[in-house]
Amino acid sequence: MTIDDAKRAAARAALDELPESGIIGLGTGSTTRFFIDAVGEAVAQGRRYTGVPTSEASRAQATALGIPLLPDDGPWDIDVCVDGADEVDDRLDLIKGGGGAQTREKIVNYSAVRNVIIVDDSKLSPRLGTKWHVPVEVLPFAHLATRAHLARLGDPILRQKDGAAVKTDAGNYIYDVRCGLIPDPAALDRAMHDIPGVVETGLFVRRADVVLVASAAGVRRLVRP
Ligand code: 5RP
Repeated sequence: MTIDDAKRAAARAALDELPESGIIGLGTGSTTRFFIDAVGEAVAQGRRYTGVPTSEASRAQATALGIPLLPDDGPWDIDVCVDGADEVDDRLDLIKGGGGAQTREKIVNYSAVRNVIIVDDSKLSPRLGTKWHVPVEVLPFAHLATRAHLARLGDPILRQKDGAAVKTDAGNYIYDVRCGLIPDPAALDRAMHDIPGVVETGLFVRRADVVLVASAAGVRRLVRP
């Protein structure tokens, strides 16, 4: 089984988590792309789903597939949001933001009655920080000052592509903060939010209700206690 097969399997399994009809949060990333494809097929077959996209990439994909979308302004009564993750620990806390969409993802996640996370089993770890850094979206204004404050919490590296700072959909920058093992993700999230200039972190603490983990053995359904 390839990684893409696993991502597709997790995405397909997420269809079983959806109501017959309703408002669905559409996450961002390569795993969620498979899920949005599946929602597009369901809509084409007559299911009445309306989406709330978490990025311009997900919006473009959903629009191309004919999935009706709600306006960005909210508020939304989202039945289920389905999204990916970069790391999932034993408590089902998450690191997200590998695709730089964590701010919109967290806003949409917060407006959903249930949050379903779809991953392949390479994303599992006993403790956050084992495999991934913490992506932090910051305002471009004074970002070097924000960086200096973040450096008290880890080693912040400005995310760049082709020599230029990567910009989020909101036009902000991302620092990937290498923190090592994170004993208390909620405390780290609070400490990062205390720094002016920080827009949002990729720490999702107690924000996953169900995690669907795909591997060669099939799809496991983990439920947050
Ligand atoms: C984007 C995210 C993604 O959900 C996360 O990076 C996982 O992506 P992928 O499914 O491509 O591994 O948080 O901001």
